[in-house]
Amino acid sequence: MGEGTSDYTKNMVDLRRHMWMAGVEVELRRLIWQIATVGKYISAKIHESNRKLAGFQNVYGEEQLDLDRISDEILKSQLQFSGFVREYASEELEDIVKIGSGKEKYIVTADPLDGSSLVDTNLAIGTIIGIHKESVLDTGRNTMVAALYITYGPLITMVYSAGNGAHEFVLNREGEYLLSQEKIKLKEKGSIFSPGGLRRDWTPAHLKFVEQLEKDGYKLRYSGGFVPDINQVLIKGGGLFTYPALRKSPQGKLRLLFELQPMAFIMEQAGGRATNGKEDILALKVESVNQRSPVYIGSTKEVRMAAQFLSQ
Ligand code: F6P
Repeated sequence: MGEGTSDYTKNMVDLRRHMWMAGVEVELRRLIWQIATVGKYISAKIHESNRKLAGFQNVYGEEQLDLDRISDEILKSQLQFSGFVREYASEELEDIVKIGSGKEKYIVTADPLDGSSLVDTNLAIGTIIGIHKESVLDTGRNTMVAALYITYGPLITMVYSAGNGAHEFVLNREGEYLLSQEKIKLKEKGSIFSPGGLRRDWTPAHLKFVEQLEKDGYKLRYSGGFVPDINQVLIKGGGLFTYPALRKSPQGKLRLLFELQPMAFIMEQAGGRATNGKEDILALKVESVNQRSPVYIGSTKEVRMAAQFLSQ
């Protein structure tokens, strides 16, 4: 595929065929396919959800919707019997759990339903997945071989990368994920920005950076859902998402393992960048499953600009 492919032919390419044509290794292909299928089950649960809070908290002390737990259970049980996954690390669980015999090839990290507090507002939410070959903790190097996210919005879309670019698929009524964009490329500079955290809690350097973006005419685009906010930057072809260090929480809010590294993998594959303001997100050593980090992710120009402001 690539240049010269007609739109008609392109529309006929489904996820399985795409991965096969792109030369994604067979077990990885099956695993990605299985996770994409889980997305359909999660979406069904979102639809049938009565949107009531379960009334208990997750390991980070946040209110947890029933849906988070259900999504986690669905994902874990599907992966458990896949034959490809030996360990599963989920934002909903305190520890990494062994779910295979130990001989399976992959370790999966998951934020099964990110932004679930937005369900009652009917804004988009998502699932974020990282696929690793070796231990996700403390190896001193990132062993991610693929990442994907699913957006549950007016449409269900899925973006995956297995190190061969980032590709978007749309779920059709027949339940097939059809290719909508292959090898998505971010422009060097975008025109939107998506800043998390309260302005009054930002550091002076971060505030100056955002003021500069505003002066430069960047449009504010923030939904409060990490998946749709990142997806917007990617699909619009550029811009920046940031959840910075805050005065009282220097590590920001978002989790390195479950949220930031998979998205960094995808953005880099689309020609973008992701840093904590200094170092690349993918170069950061993950020492605990709940480790957080500030993040600047998107087009290279904006990420570079953030680094300049933060170093002043
Ligand atoms: O990590 C959960 C999350 O809801 C993300 O999806 C989102 O980017 C962020 O928190 C929003 O945080 P805030 O409510 O502080 O803007």
